[in-house]
Amino acid sequence: MRVLSGIQPTGNLHLGNYLGAIVNWVAMQDDVARDGGACFFFLADMHAITVHEQREQRMANVRDMAAALIAAGIDPEKSVLFNQARVPAHAELAWLLNGTARIGWLNRMTQFKDKAGKNREGASVGLFVYPVLQAADILLYQPTHVPVGEDQKQHLELTRDIAEKFNTDMGRDVFTIPEPFIPEQSARIMSLRDGSAKMSKSDPSDMSRINLTDDNDTIAQKIRKARTDAEPLPGDYAGLAGRAEAQNLVGIYASITGLSRDAVCARFAGQGFGTFKPALAEALVAQLAPIRTRYEALRRDDSIDAVLEQGASAARQAAEPTLAAAYDALGLMR
Ligand code: TYM
Repeated sequence: MRVLSGIQPTGNLHLGNYLGAIVNWVAMQDDVARDGGACFFFLADMHAITVHEQREQRMANVRDMAAALIAAGIDPEKSVLFNQARVPAHAELAWLLNGTARIGWLNRMTQFKDKAGKNREGASVGLFVYPVLQAADILLYQPTHVPVGEDQKQHLELTRDIAEKFNTDMGRDVFTIPEPFIPEQSARIMSLRDGSAKMSKSDPSDMSRINLTDDNDTIAQKIRKARTDAEPLPGDYAGLAGRAEAQNLVGIYASITGLSRDAVCARFAGQGFGTFKPALAEALVAQLAPIRTRYEALRRDDSIDAVLEQGASAARQAAEPTLAAAYDALGLMR
């Protein structure tokens, strides 16, 4: 098994990223190391140029996100951890794949439509071709599995389409066709203020999300203020139909404790949120407080750049054979 995934280093790591992706990265890292496979995890700093930021802030963001991933359990001795800008093969392969990707395919990307909003003509070309760079990120390392949250599913399908078309057009199997890995329970963690919107770093309300940097009181306060209803919890998860906010909180409790959602409902059956919320806050604090403590120490440690450079050196080596095969298939002499 070969695993690859990435995260944009913009803003804080939040509970959606953590439960939707990072927890699975950490679990896979240990499984994969046992069977002699490889894991690649990277900071998508080249993707992040689609968001305006000062240069100093960008540099801090990469270091902070690397520290957060390590604090959350990514071990640079077991996994290849790097930032995309240190591995030029990503940008090179993205250009080669621009010959394969179709404008019609990119026009269907819902993330572009959401992010560009009404002013499509004013959106950057980078935002439009963003999914092609993402395809390059993935295909370069020939991964079998890509652990992501549900919002990345369409980008993964596009990646598979690009890989299949490239292989067919060239008449050779240059790329492995990767499988998305999206565990149902935590695929879509929702906002604490609105059960129909996903938890996101771009939500203007900080009360909508739990950041990995939030202190214990803030976590408890955000859970206390989270939107819910007045009904008690039912005996099983199916009984929560139509109660989006309640489903979200039960899903978070289940993911954080490793219980099934049915088991969580059974544990709190007949009780209201006055009982459930403090228990949820306590479970979150127990899991997140040690990560926050490690993060604060790692952020002050200036060895992060060396860790990322060491990862990038391994990534450059791993990416080179695929990049060479793609140039060769196209008849481009380097
Ligand atoms: P990004 O930085 O938005 O998110 C990183 C990971 O967190 C997941 N995620 C969530 N999961 C569940 N519930 C949520 N509310 C939630 N919010 C975020 C995302 O699905 C993702 O897995 N385009 C990517 C970065 C990227 C990438 C790649 C990922 C670039 N190249 C190659 C995989 C492979 C992004 O912006 O993720």
